[in-house]
Amino acid sequence: MSISHSDSVCPPMISSAPPRVPPTVAVIFGATGDLTHRKIIPAFYHLAKNNLLPEDFAIIGFARRPKSDDEFRQDLGEALQKFSHTQPVDDAVWKKLAAHIYYFQGELDDPEAYKSLAEKLKKLPESPKIGENYLFYLATSPNFFGTCAQNLAAAGLASKPGTRHRLIVEKPFGEDLKSAEELNRTLQSAFAEKDIFRIDHYLGKETVQNLIYFRFANAIYEPLWNRRYIDHVQITVAEQVGVEGRGGYYDHAGAARDMLQNHLFQLFTLTAMEPPASLDAESIRDEKVKVLRSIPTPSSDFLQKNVVRAQYGGGYIGGKGIPAYRQEEKVAHDSLTETFIAAQLEIDNWRWSGVPFYLRTGKALAAQFTEINIVFKRPPSVLFAASGDDRLRRNSLRIRIQPNEGISINFNAKVPSKAEAELVEMDFLYKSGFAHYLPEAYERLLVDALIGESTLFTRSDEVEQAWRLVDSIRDMWTKQSVRDLPLYACGSMGPVESDMLLERGGRHWIRPKEICK
Ligand code: BG6
Repeated sequence: MSISHSDSVCPPMISSAPPRVPPTVAVIFGATGDLTHRKIIPAFYHLAKNNLLPEDFAIIGFARRPKSDDEFRQDLGEALQKFSHTQPVDDAVWKKLAAHIYYFQGELDDPEAYKSLAEKLKKLPESPKIGENYLFYLATSPNFFGTCAQNLAAAGLASKPGTRHRLIVEKPFGEDLKSAEELNRTLQSAFAEKDIFRIDHYLGKETVQNLIYFRFANAIYEPLWNRRYIDHVQITVAEQVGVEGRGGYYDHAGAARDMLQNHLFQLFTLTAMEPPASLDAESIRDEKVKVLRSIPTPSSDFLQKNVVRAQYGGGYIGGKGIPAYRQEEKVAHDSLTETFIAAQLEIDNWRWSGVPFYLRTGKALAAQFTEINIVFKRPPSVLFAASGDDRLRRNSLRIRIQPNEGISINFNAKVPSKAEAELVEMDFLYKSGFAHYLPEAYERLLVDALIGESTLFTRSDEVEQAWRLVDSIRDMWTKQSVRDLPLYACGSMGPVESDMLLERGGRHWIRPKEICK
């Protein structure tokens, strides 16, 4: 009997045909801002380069400053040269795309401007073929999110039957539970929930999406993925950079709001969730929300013991000087904003009861990396105790989200010529495993919003549950009313209290290879 190729190879879980993006006009609010330059336009350019945009496509940039279409295109072209993650920029692709980019001058809080925008949308040369298919991208300061949505609705541009009017909302989505609920209500009064796409760019990262494949497309890990075999889980998003000119925003936000509420919780819920009923958006998002719901609102006592915050002092990282956080531009000289947070969370459900999840993130740290470490229980040492090896190391799975995207498994192996075991590593590296182009997060997210696929966007209840937890931490801090925060040295891995958080359970943070050397 001969075995055909299709007998021996599993078919992909999801069709690998490129998505068909419908004809659309994308309107970017905040079109002269940093995000448009750094991320949104480079992402559209790469979609065009990879033939993922339809022939009938146009972009309108909405902003306050007076500017002609040509000046706007020129600015975007220069930004693209600087920020494109592939170089050199393909001039022919950019020129073709730029010919369909227009500028619209308007004030975000002026309802009349949106009415004129509605007129302009009808009169674009591309409009007859595109029809009323619009993607509105709110890349503005967050205090305009609600206003923009309401003004779009008043100008007849919100969701309506027979049209595709979609809304992308950038982060931060609110600054606490109350403001997020309010923003949800405002947006939902103008757009249907299925048309609202709340960005968390971590979900656009290939390696984050791979968490679902890794867990549910393999038979060997899932049976171990629970309290019987897993000792604890570590999730780290470490950044070497300081706040780099974003002091005004950051001093109000801090690490809990800037990173924990969104990016870390996304990694956390994808790691801990139950298998979804299917791969559709609602099934996956239902499971993620259930994880957050399974964390009872922690008491102040619990949080005091299990959450560590700190702020960076100045110093050098890789030869580059970084001022102390309080000396950063637009940061209060007596700021109590945390630039580092580590927290131990516990999920009160059948699978995870008693398994600590340690989450940490910080700026100005020793290395730039994001990874998830699944640390298994120690194997019984009875057999090896006689030879003195009575503390066999724990197996662990290291899921590297970035950089060196990949996954490694650590296991005990015999040291040649010795009666000893040592931890060795079996490694998968994305770069060598796949020759494919690795898209930037924003490319994937834009395509998904254009085709109306919500899986990689945060649902309203998910955002609210995440804020519930972050609020409880911040409330505890307010009650503490401290005069100062612990400082950590720039270029370290955070304050000693973060190490102590694990040490009291006989554990330690796993150091990535980059800083083991
Ligand atoms: C952003 C935060 O959402 O994510 C930044 O506001 C942070 O403070 C950034 O630097 C990290 O994203 P990435 O993709 O570089 O890990």
